[in-house]
Amino acid sequence: MKGTLLWASAAAVAAVVAVASETTSFAAKAAPVAEAKAMKYSPMIFGHFLEHFDTQVYGGIFEPGSPLSDGDGFRKDVIEALREIKCPIVRWPGGCFVSDYHWKYGVGPEREPMWNKAWAVEDPNTFGTDEYVKWCRKVGCEPYICTNAGTGDEEEMSDWVEYCNLSVGKWGRTRKANGYEKPHDVLYWSVGNENWGRHEIGAKTVEQWGPLVRESAKMMRGTDRRIKLFAAATPDERWTLPLLHAAGYLLDYVSVHGYYVWGNSNPYLTCMMRTQRPEADILRTIGILEKAGFGGGKIGIAFDEWNLRGWYHPGLGQYKRGAVMDYAARRQNDVASIYTMADALFAACFLNTCLRHCDIVKMANFSPAVNTRGAIFAHPKGIVKRTSYHVFWMYTHLLEPNVVPVSLDCGELSDGKAKVPVLDAALTVSDDGRRRVLAVVNKSPDNAVSLDVSSLTPAASLRATVLDGDSPDAYNDIGAENRVVPRQATLAATGGKVSLAPHSLHCIMLE
Ligand code: AHR
Repeated sequence: MKGTLLWASAAAVAAVVAVASETTSFAAKAAPVAEAKAMKYSPMIFGHFLEHFDTQVYGGIFEPGSPLSDGDGFRKDVIEALREIKCPIVRWPGGCFVSDYHWKYGVGPEREPMWNKAWAVEDPNTFGTDEYVKWCRKVGCEPYICTNAGTGDEEEMSDWVEYCNLSVGKWGRTRKANGYEKPHDVLYWSVGNENWGRHEIGAKTVEQWGPLVRESAKMMRGTDRRIKLFAAATPDERWTLPLLHAAGYLLDYVSVHGYYVWGNSNPYLTCMMRTQRPEADILRTIGILEKAGFGGGKIGIAFDEWNLRGWYHPGLGQYKRGAVMDYAARRQNDVASIYTMADALFAACFLNTCLRHCDIVKMANFSPAVNTRGAIFAHPKGIVKRTSYHVFWMYTHLLEPNVVPVSLDCGELSDGKAKVPVLDAALTVSDDGRRRVLAVVNKSPDNAVSLDVSSLTPAASLRATVLDGDSPDAYNDIGAENRVVPRQATLAATGGKVSLAPHSLHCIMLE
C-alpha cells in the first residue's frame, strides 16, 4: 500500500509525506502553502469528567480512612496520577446524576443523604461542592460545574454560582460560614446535561430549552459576569438551532457528548471503524453554529463527555414498571480486559480530531476520569493506569502548543463492512516554529506502515515515543500495571521512510 500525507509547516512550507504498506497504492497530493497557518490549541481538550455516583467519587477519588488518602479523604495516588497528566479541568457532578441533584444538601456541617433518581442510588452527600473544589485545587485543575436543569430551576443554578463565587448574599455568606472564607472562583458552568434526551430526568422539549437556558444564563451571569457558560446541545439542528436562536448570545460553548460503541465485547477492528465519527459530530455541530451566526469560534464546542465506550449500566434511563437497575452488572465496567489498545488509539484519534479543529473545539472531557470507563482504575490497594491514560500523558508532555494543518492520504483499514484511513495524524509546532511533533496513529492490528517523512525532515533517524503494547488487545491490570506503557524509540528514516508499528501511537520529534 502506498499513499501520501500532505501537510504544511509553521514556516508555510508545503510538503509531501508518503505512506506505504503492503496492499494498496495512493496518489500524492500537495497542500496549498497559503493554508498552512499554525494555530494555538486549547489545552482544555485534555480535560476529564467525574460523575458523582458509584465508585467514581466514593472509593475512587474520595476514600476517607484509606491509608492511601490524605487528611481530606482524597486518594493521593489518584491526585498524583491526574497531576502527572496535567489534567486541566474536571467537569462534575454529572452527567445524568445532576438532573435531580440538589447541591444545597451537599454543603455545610449537616449532610443529608439523598436518593438520586437518575442512578437509583442513595448519595451520602459527604462529598459536595466544597470538597470538589478543594480536590480540583489539589489536582491543579479548573472546576467545571454542570448544573441541574432537569428538576432544578434558574434560581437553584444561580444560587450555586453565588455560593461558589460571591462573598455577599445569602449563599455567598453561607459558604463563608461553612469555613470557606475565600470564594471558590468556579469559572466554568454548564446549564444542564443531555436535557434533549428522554433518558434524562426532567428532559425538556425543544420549545422549553432555549428560554430556560436564556433565563438561567441571565441569572448566572447576573451573579458573576466572569463565568463561561455552556448549554446542553447535540449535533442535531432540530435541538441546537432553536437553542442558539434563543440563548446563543449568552453562551461561550455548546456542550456535546459522544460514545461510539456499546456493550463490553467490541472487537478491536469494530472500535477502529468508529474513529472518524467524532469528526462527523464536530462537523455537524460546526454547521449548526455557522447557520445560527455563531461560527468562526464565536461559540466553541465543548465535547464535555466522550469515550470510545458507552458506560455499561443496564437499567439506566429505563423507567418502565418492572425495569430494574442491574447494580451488579455495573461492576463489569471495571473488568480490566475491556480497556485495550483500541481505547488508547481511539482516544488518540479523538484528540487528533480536536487538534485539527482547534479553532472551534475548545474543550473535551474524557468520560470519566476514574473507574467505570475511566483512564484510571482506583482499587483499595492502588491504581491501574489504563491504556488511554498513557495517551493523555504523551499528548500533555510531548506535543507542541500549536497545530498546523495536516492532510493525510493513506491506505484504508476495513472490518469487512466499513473502512477508515489506516493512519490518523496531527502535527504540532512550537511557538518559535523550530520544534515539530507529529502524533500519528497506525490503526492496523497487524501491519506496520512505512511513512515517508523526507519532506518533513532530512534526519536519518528520529526520536519517538511509542505506545503499542504486545497485542491490539493488550491491557493493564492489577499485577500487570505496565504491560502497555510508552516506550522510547529511535526510528531509522531509511530513504526518508520510518516504520510505524502495528496498533500504535507514535509521537515523532521532527526537529
Ligand atoms: O453513561 C454515563 C452517562 O452517559 C452520563 O451520565 C450521561 O451524561 C451520558 O448519557
